[in-house]
Amino acid sequence: MQFAIPLYSPCLPPTDVLPHREPRETGLSLTHSRAMYTTEQTKELQHHTRDWLSKPAEGADLMKRLHQLRDILRFHEYRYYVLNDPLIADGEYDRLYKMLESAERGHPEVVSPDSPTQRVAKGLSSTFRTVQHLVPMLSLENSYEEAELLDWDRKARELSGLEEIEYCVEPKFDGASISLLYENDLLVRGATRGDGVEGEDITVNLRQIRSMPLSAPFSRHGIRQIEIRGEVLMTKEHFRKYNEQLAEQNLPPLANPRNAASGTLRLKDASEAGKRNLEAFLYHVSYVSLDEGAPMPAGLVTHAGSLAWLWEMGFRSPDREKRVFKGIHEVARHCLAFEQQRDELPYEIDGMVVKVDSVALQERLGMTTHHPRWAIAFKFKARQGTSTLRQVEFQVGRTGSVTPVAKIDPVAIGGVTVTSVSMHNEEFILDKDLRIGDQLLVERAGDVIPYIVMSLAELRTGREEPIRFPTQCPACGTDLVKPAEEAVWRCPNTQCGAQVLERLMHFTSKDAMDIRGLGEANIRRFHEAGWLPDVPSLYSLPYERMQELEGLGARSVNNLREAIEKSKGQPLHRIINALGIRYVGETTAKAIAREVGHLLDLKDYSPERLQQIEDVGVKVADSIHRFFHDADNIRILERLEAQGLSLSGNRLQAVEGALTGKTFLFTGSLQNLKRSEAEAMVEANGGRLLSGVSSKLDFLVAGEDAGSKLEKARKIASVHIIDEGEFLRMVGREDNG
Ligand code: IVH
Repeated sequence: MQFAIPLYSPCLPPTDVLPHREPRETGLSLTHSRAMYTTEQTKELQHHTRDWLSKPAEGADLMKRLHQLRDILRFHEYRYYVLNDPLIADGEYDRLYKMLESAERGHPEVVSPDSPTQRVAKGLSSTFRTVQHLVPMLSLENSYEEAELLDWDRKARELSGLEEIEYCVEPKFDGASISLLYENDLLVRGATRGDGVEGEDITVNLRQIRSMPLSAPFSRHGIRQIEIRGEVLMTKEHFRKYNEQLAEQNLPPLANPRNAASGTLRLKDASEAGKRNLEAFLYHVSYVSLDEGAPMPAGLVTHAGSLAWLWEMGFRSPDREKRVFKGIHEVARHCLAFEQQRDELPYEIDGMVVKVDSVALQERLGMTTHHPRWAIAFKFKARQGTSTLRQVEFQVGRTGSVTPVAKIDPVAIGGVTVTSVSMHNEEFILDKDLRIGDQLLVERAGDVIPYIVMSLAELRTGREEPIRFPTQCPACGTDLVKPAEEAVWRCPNTQCGAQVLERLMHFTSKDAMDIRGLGEANIRRFHEAGWLPDVPSLYSLPYERMQELEGLGARSVNNLREAIEKSKGQPLHRIINALGIRYVGETTAKAIAREVGHLLDLKDYSPERLQQIEDVGVKVADSIHRFFHDADNIRILERLEAQGLSLSGNRLQAVEGALTGKTFLFTGSLQNLKRSEAEAMVEANGGRLLSGVSSKLDFLVAGEDAGSKLEKARKIASVHIIDEGEFLRMVGREDNG
């Protein structure tokens, strides 16, 4: 017989079944709980790992040791996904994984559902089954101001008769809420919130979240069945990358990471869901069913204890993000202070959740039909606003793409005044049925660019007008074209004034030819005067006539002439970057410059040969190939060369030095060097720079406040993470910091 304790359900067991609570440490520096594995276990698993990697088992021996191999892989998944602190290289993990896979392939009868190989999804789901949560998933009461928190605390004290209440505070994750059911240690079901009573069974997709264990040692605590709640989210970085991928396919981006997370959870193709890198925070044990006579695990007596206990069970709980306070004033101060740090977190939060820490007291306070009385959300300032759509401007980009941009009445969102918002493409306008005069709901999530969520159709007066997408280029009048595979209308005229202006601005910008003193306004004026019909004409400007223009004295004209002349000496990689070839940024430009003897050699490169250049993949190779097979582009390059720019590459001029053959990347802020100086030192010493962290990277130089690059590098054993001092020593300069 089992003894069921549905926590926080209307049919509660008497509170005295819960063991007596010991007084605990409170305040800001609550110590972190133990990790899933002890030091001893970690050492042992590491030892076994090395053993397997050096002499893999085979045949009967492999079958005998299969359990160990599974444990090893689970351990390394935990180190990587939950702790963010891997102990082996990616390649080593892959080797172990393949060993397990091949052993299981021969013996399907020994494959356990929680084997690391069993996350991989097979086939598509047609629909998601509706399932009932063991305990209804209630919502939270919201508060927006300190006074509301104080009021809520006062009521809780009145109800409980206590003078002061201890609270646990944690972030309110802005994602999709889920509930997980484990039976006999195995994850048997994962569901969306749905209407709170019933949700959709999305187990296949949830199994793809690698920080979420497929099994956990609950039976060690006498637990047969347990229901756990949490939030699934996508980090800002993965969200940005995901939106970039959408943009490459000419699809409009998603509004925010929350939509990306909930959309991913409902994908019919679980292997696709697996590629989106979701994370899960589990913050609440809603139900446990214990073996007869088994005591409730001591940790579950307080909320903070539950978070620590979940962490010990191998879950990513907000154990490290939580704080316990005595009394509401400290709570309020913490919530207000946390709002200031909101943007520094790698994921979005939309507030804090304040929970009565004692579970016994939670039960005494109970719940309404809508929310528990023992918890409240303290919501941060909204990052949405409404404003009127006044007009739509159609902007022509460097490559001729025509982007509709909404001009709206100024509206302050999250501390920034927004007046224009991209509408991406025609489909976006049609899908959302946007009209001139509409009230728009605009969102600016974290560091994400503003986004039109929807138009508030119920506020329409009938005077709104449809948005007409132009059929001709708004700048040059050429008929627009829309290639079949694209969602974007383009102006096919490469001489189009708007495109030329955009190309000129890019050509002269700081990271390209770095021509100071020119600026957008002068580029426009010179273009209008007919002096700048294209990029090469920059080098034959009529300086003698410039003083006729207002605000341009002899001195500024002279400075400008000098800056333009000086730019002729810019190295090839800057010229390549300045050309604005699609997908070719600074790093790829450097790789190309290293590869070629002369830039025009690229006319004879096949896409396959281009792909052999470092940093160049299929898409980039294709774009470079197209660029060098366009006669206009070749003519421009020839004219630039005739004006005195050097298109010779550095292939034959490779520097030999202390860093030859080594690759580097800088992240965070350096103390003694400017980033550009440090990068120049790498190149001067024969080293090469990479644009991102990968297994090709030898050294990551991490300065202060290094972020995601450092985190990623830590996961790749072959990357050496060094500080600025070490870097300076490598190039033979003393660290004077
Ligand atoms: S506690 C009975 N804690 O916010 C337990 N909820 O607006 C109630 N949420 O539906 C939930 N972070 O999906 C709780 N740390 C957190 C949370 C959190 C995000 C979500 C949850 C809930 C919604 C209510």
